[in-house]
Amino acid sequence: MSGARTGLPLIGGVLLGVAITFLLSPPPDESPAFCPASRVPEFVDNSEHWVVVQEKTPQSPPSDAKQTPQVVRARFAATELGIRERILVLVWAETGRLAVALNGTLARHVSRVVALADSARLDVEMSLLPSVIPFKSNGLHAHTHILNAVFNYTLQENYDWFLLMKESTYINPFALERMISKMSWHHKLILGVPDALNTGRCILDGGILLSNPSMQMLIQQRHVCNNMLAATEENGLEMCIHAATNVTCRREFEGLEYNFWRVSGTDAPHEALQRWSLESPTLNSSLAVGNILSTADASALHDHFIRVEVDRVDVEIASLEVEIEGMGDDLPDGPSWPVGTRPYSKPPNRYQAPVWEFFTATEIFKNEPNQNVRPLEGSDKEDIDEVIQEAKRRIEVEELNTSIEFVRVSGGYRIWDAGRGMDYMVDLVYRDAHTEETIERRIHLARIIEQTSLVNTVPYVKEDADLTIVVPIAEEIEVLPARRLLARQARLCVGAAEESRHTRVVVAVSARVEAKSVTYIQNDLEELKKRCKRSALDASLLSVSSDNPSSLHAAEALDEAIDHFGPQSMFLLLSPYADIQKELLDRARINTIKKFQVFLPIPFMEFHPTISGMDLKDGEKIDDEGWRQSALSKLKDPAPPTRTKPLIVQKEHGRFDPLDFSVVCIYGSDYMEVRPRLTNGKRIDIGSAFLNMPGGVHVLRAIEPALRIRYHRQECDADLEEDDLSRCIQSRRENLAAKDQLARLVFNKE
Ligand SMILES: *[C@@H]1O[C@H](CO)[C@@H](O)[C@H](O)[C@H]1NC(C)=O
Ligand SMILES: *[C@@H]1O[C@H](CO)[C@@H](O)[C@H](O)[C@H]1NC(C)=O
Ligand SMILES: *[C@@H]1O[C@H](CO)[C@@H](O)[C@H](O)[C@H]1NC(C)=O
Ligand SMILES: *[C@@H]1O[C@H](CO)[C@@H](O)[C@H](O)[C@H]1NC(C)=O
Ligand SMILES: *[C@@H]1O[C@H](CO)[C@@H](O)[C@H](O)[C@H]1NC(C)=O
Repeated sequence: MSGARTGLPLIGGVLLGVAITFLLSPPPDESPAFCPASRVPEFVDNSEHWVVVQEKTPQSPPSDAKQTPQVVRARFAATELGIRERILVLVWAETGRLAVALNGTLARHVSRVVALADSARLDVEMSLLPSVIPFKSNGLHAHTHILNAVFNYTLQENYDWFLLMKESTYINPFALERMISKMSWHHKLILGVPDALNTGRCILDGGILLSNPSMQMLIQQRHVCNNMLAATEENGLEMCIHAATNVTCRREFEGLEYNFWRVSGTDAPHEALQRWSLESPTLNSSLAVGNILSTADASALHDHFIRVEVDRVDVEIASLEVEIEGMGDDLPDGPSWPVGTRPYSKPPNRYQAPVWEFFTATEIFKNEPNQNVRPLEGSDKEDIDEVIQEAKRRIEVEELNTSIEFVRVSGGYRIWDAGRGMDYMVDLVYRDAHTEETIERRIHLARIIEQTSLVNTVPYVKEDADLTIVVPIAEEIEVLPARRLLARQARLCVGAAEESRHTRVVVAVSARVEAKSVTYIQNDLEELKKRCKRSALDASLLSVSSDNPSSLHAAEALDEAIDHFGPQSMFLLLSPYADIQKELLDRARINTIKKFQVFLPIPFMEFHPTISGMDLKDGEKIDDEGWRQSALSKLKDPAPPTRTKPLIVQKEHGRFDPLDFSVVCIYGSDYMEVRPRLTNGKRIDIGSAFLNMPGGVHVLRAIEPALRIRYHRQECDADLEEDDLSRCIQSRRENLAAKDQLARLVFNKE
């Protein structure tokens, strides 16, 4: 009404103004506007000369399947892109005995090994090899068969490098890998051991390494070898390679050398290897070792070259460390310590700066809001004891010659960095035995995260699982909080978008709850169902008849719910005092995985609203003596506290209680497996079933701001299980209020 009253004169004024304007201005001219004649454009109509040309639309060629060119696609993308494998080893297996050993040494380091064997000599052992190409020696030379086989299987096209060898040659796979990884295969190149007569051939004993172009050439020109006369089959192959390719055998290319060690004399390699490796400087660097006789030789050589390789890598690491240390000075952050590890991560802001924890030999000062010192025990003790031992060992090595004796640990610090690991600083006190002087030493140690792996066996979950929310009401006193929970739930679904997934709210009341309250709850549930029709929410009431006072009502409620809705669905057990937001339901759905993980969120526990000042009315101030008195008297009042301010996740309003396990999200079938653990003794919450559990499903604990628990008086029965009782008492103590709030209440300012 007041808006209308002030609006009327305004509109009246505007209308009056418009009317006056109309009266004073001249009436609009009825005659057409005058236009000077000279400005009129002259039209020339030349449309009669126009010729309309209609372009023919291009005719699409007759769709004749035979004429359209067919694109021939290669079977594999690699073929089309010209990607080839690195190296193919062709082993000419004369007896087959050593070819099998070769499978164990060389095969795992190269792309492929193909054994070529005379089918007359093919035995069971050899046929076990991954790929064997047999040939029949029907009057032709063996090399003809070998080259034909390469051609028949088009092997020459699919590899960058080819190594032709006899089975009695040992190839050092590390040297081979180093060689081919540094050379380009584009050259027409044959590497190996040139024969003694300098004819340009490579000897087969040393193995012959061909690049792809020279192999292609060899296969194309292999007919050259057909009428070749040679003393031996082996000789024939050597000659054939040279004749067909016209490439001279080289021992060295681009500074890389093909080193060959020939076993001579009567010593078997597996016996004499140790001696040779010390006597001869070249054995360690050889790529091929010829004329080995047995599998024992092959494996002894392989073991030796693995050792050589390990030594090489160690030397390389040491030189890299020196190099990194040198470079570290030029980096903005300075050299990292230990060399090559990540430096400390930079905190994003000053609130998230990491905090060093101080420790002595018996106590640790952790960064906790309510407790600054704790006795050193458990895994913390193990950790710190180990570090102190290591520091002492270090000092004793350094001070080997001086006679000092250990006095005590004066203290130390440790810090955790999720990307790096744990770092420690330990201060030790020593005494010089001669001069009686005390010596203080500080040692910096680091426990670096070394091996990280992704857990790749985690099942895939989606956010669309159906969820049953179970709210247990054990006592009459919990009825009101639970009804508030239902009312908030109703607000959650009003205005929400259409939901495809299913949510069900189940209230499980015990026999101790009065019938009148049960009716109220029933009505609330009906109302909830009506309001949440759009989001497919279901609501129902279950009554739990068992009235065994020592059993946990929450567990019985869950039993009852699983009985009703089957063990295959997901259950979220809430406390009647819970105050939840929508995100909790999403996170519960994601974090709970059948047969793999249960979700036990860490709730935000509200402090006593009177002590934390959440029930102050407008104008009331916390410093008043009057407030102090009334607050103290309200604390003794058993009536549930009232509050005037909304509960927000903030340090004045409450705290995250890591000891609270009352809210659980779990699959029914997983719950049934841990259920027996709840039957022995009186337990405080379902979480007790998961504590100290060996193996089984994973437990996910995470701070959950969308789950808040309203303040309520926590009862800790003396007949609770020991662990549960201490947990209960500690929770109750710390959830009452923050220390500064309690201090304000207890200590008078004057
Ligand atoms: C050859 O090596 C492969 C894998 O390295 C192995 O699976 C196979 O059994 C070996 N063959 C023989 C005959 O030893
Ligand atoms: C290669 O193929 C030809 C003709 O298909 C055949 O006669 C010959 O035996 C094959 N050679 C080998 C070694 O498989
Ligand atoms: C072989 O190579 C040499 C020099 O590289 C050349 O003089 C000779 O003509 C070549 N022979 C054939 C048959 O191509
Ligand atoms: C060859 O390597 C072995 C093992 O790494 C080593 O014991 C030996 O001293 C080396 N020989 C030479 C001459 O460097
Ligand atoms: C200890 O003394 C010996 C000889 O007296 C010396 O060779 C050695 O380098 C000294 N060690 C240290 C760690 O000072």
